[in-house]
Amino acid sequence: MAAEIIDGKAFAAGLRSRVAAGVAAMKEAHGLTPGLAVVLVGEDPASQVYVRNKGRQTVECGMLSFEHRLSAEASEAEILDTVARLNADPQVHGILVQLPLPAHVDAEKVINSIDPAKDVDGFHISNAGLLATGQKAMVPCTPLGCLMMLRDRLGSLSGLHAVVIGRSNIVGKPMAALLLRESCTVTVVHSRSRDIEALCRQADILVAAVGRPRMVTADWVKPGATVIDVGINRIDAGEGKTRLVGDVDFDSVAPVAGAITPVPGGVGPMTIACLLANTLTACARANGLPEPEGLAA
Ligand code: GUN
Repeated sequence: MAAEIIDGKAFAAGLRSRVAAGVAAMKEAHGLTPGLAVVLVGEDPASQVYVRNKGRQTVECGMLSFEHRLSAEASEAEILDTVARLNADPQVHGILVQLPLPAHVDAEKVINSIDPAKDVDGFHISNAGLLATGQKAMVPCTPLGCLMMLRDRLGSLSGLHAVVIGRSNIVGKPMAALLLRESCTVTVVHSRSRDIEALCRQADILVAAVGRPRMVTADWVKPGATVIDVGINRIDAGEGKTRLVGDVDFDSVAPVAGAITPVPGGVGPMTIACLLANTLTACARANGLPEPEGLAA
């Protein structure tokens, strides 16, 4: 039986409309408009596309959008100064510094200079620590989006074996922490793991976040498993063209899995929707207001 295709695009549209409703309610009841500031350093074309999409979607759901563009030669001190001004700005509830930063900048130092309460990416060391210890945190957007889709499909995740492929600070580690908090049995595999295929074949939930095109094939997947593909890899499609593929070989895995996210149209659209959700949550927390339901982890 073919897997259910998890429609991340539709899921994200639903989440964005709940965020928009929460924003409208916050304006109406408290005269507050959540604001998201994005800092972009340099001219990286992919980053420019992300930032443009973020700005558009922020405005579409009724929030204030602030963009700070700095040249690729901007000094670390200039970037830290920009973040400090945003930390102090009461109209800004969420701050995102677009990554990657130029090589001469210490990205960790910049990220850790963001007020943790405004760290809507959830990359600050305080938020990573809060999440790892099961406390209320700002949760990184991509793992948050994956969790929302998993809960929607599976209900309770308690007792399920989740295997996360990849150990990045942005996806793998926070994903593992979230799944542990859901009472999954969690295995994290990475480039040095032995017999990755056999470990993956045990998974009820398989999350692939390694950045290796179509690495996960059908023989890695337990029949009926829920497969979440975080990979976004651009590959050569011949005749001078490129196409996007995930870390999962969709065509071979879809007939085996119980459910699977496609690329594009799976996890990707959820990331920005979760950023907007985090901004609304941050605004509510900053003002001591009840958090809109169903937006945080
Ligand atoms: N670059 C690509 N994706 C992201 C993201 O989610 N957050 C930040 N800060 N930079 C990125």
